[in-house]
Amino acid sequence: MKIPRSYLTEKEEPLAGKTALTDQEESPAGKMALTDQEEPLAGKTALTDQEAPPAGKTALTEKEALAGKKGTREAAGKGIRFEHVTFTYPGRKEPALRDVSFAMAPGTRTALVGHNGSGKSTLVKLLCGLYQPDSGHIFIDGQDVAQMSPDALRRHFSVVFQDYGKYSFTVRENVELGDVEKMRAPVREREKAVRAALRQGLAEDLAGMLEKPLGNLSSEGTGLSGGQWQRLALSRACYRDSAICVLDEPTASLDPVAENELYANFTEMMRERACILISHRLAVARYTDRILVLEGGRLVEDGTHGSLMEREGVYASMYRAQSHWYASEET
Ligand SMILES: Nc1ncnc2c1ncn2[C@@H]1O[C@H](COP(=O)(O)OP(=O)(O)OP(=O)(O)O)[C@@H](O)[C@H]1O
Ligand SMILES: [Mg+2]
Repeated sequence: MKIPRSYLTEKEEPLAGKTALTDQEESPAGKMALTDQEEPLAGKTALTDQEAPPAGKTALTEKEALAGKKGTREAAGKGIRFEHVTFTYPGRKEPALRDVSFAMAPGTRTALVGHNGSGKSTLVKLLCGLYQPDSGHIFIDGQDVAQMSPDALRRHFSVVFQDYGKYSFTVRENVELGDVEKMRAPVREREKAVRAALRQGLAEDLAGMLEKPLGNLSSEGTGLSGGQWQRLALSRACYRDSAICVLDEPTASLDPVAENELYANFTEMMRERACILISHRLAVARYTDRILVLEGGRLVEDGTHGSLMEREGVYASMYRAQSHWYASEET
C-alpha cells in the first residue's frame, strides 16, 4: 500500500464558520433532538440552517406514506438504489442533483467525490431522508425512502455529516447519543461499548474523562480541538450498529497521522456495513470498492480508481491535481 505523504491542504480545511454551533444547538434542553440532528431525521429536530430540510421537503410521516402521497413503489433487491433522482433547494433555479441513478450492494464501500458544490452532501441527505426528491425514487432494501417512517429509516444509518454535532454534554453522553436505544442496557455494558467506540473513532485519549462535561455551557465544561470533536463524532457513529455508514468528510479536521490511522482501521471500522464515504482526499477512494463522481449535480463517472484513471475524465484530473501529495503515483 502506498502511504500518502500528506493529505492535508489548506483549501481542504473546513470553513471556520461551518462547524460552529449556535446557542440553540448547544442547549441541553435539546438533548434528544440533537441526537436526531446528526442522525438524519428531518423535520423532527432542531437542525442547523445547513441541515434543516427546506420547507415542504421533509420526510413524510408514516401516515402520509400509507396514504400514498408519493405513490407506492418498491424496487427489487437489497442495498441502496437511486432511480432518476432530481432535487432542487427552495429558492434555487438549478437542481442540486439531476437525474441521479445508481445501485449499491449491501456491505460495499463507495467513495463519493466531486468538486465543491457538486451535490455530494445533498445526495447523502436525500438518502438519509432529510430532503425529499422533486422526482425519482430512493430505495433501501427495496423500500422507498419516501414511504418509510423516520424511525424505520433511522435504524439503517450511522452518519457523520460534514457539519457534525458538538454537544455540550459529557464525553460518554456524546458517544451514547449515537444510539439512545442502547441506554436501556446495564451501565457496565454500555461503558464497555462506549470505550470500544472511542477506540475505533480514534478518541481513546478521551476515555479517561468519560464523565467530563464538554463545551462552554457550564463553568466545568472542557473545550476540545476541532480534530477531537471530529473523533468524537466518529466514535458516536461507531457506537451505533447499523447496516449503512455515511461519512461526509470525516477527516477534514484530523491531522495526517490520525487520518492515516483512521483509514488503516477503516475495514475493521466498517465491518460488514455498507459505507458511503465523501472526501476531497482522493487517496481514500482506494479503500473503497467503487467511486462515484458528481459534477454539477450529475453522476458523471462510476468505476474503480484504475478504470476512472484510464477514462481520463473528472476523477483523473482531480486525482492528478493532488498526486504531488503522494509518495508515489499509480498510473
Ligand atoms: N441549504 C441549502 N439551500 C440552498 N442551496 C443549497 C443548500 N445546501 C447546498 N446548496 C446548494 O446545492 C449545491 C450542492 O451543494 P452540496 O452541499 O451538496 O455540495 P457538496 O458537493 O457537498 O460540496 P462540498 O464539497 O463543498 O461539501 C450547491 O450549489 C449548493 O450551493
Ligand atoms: Mg458537502
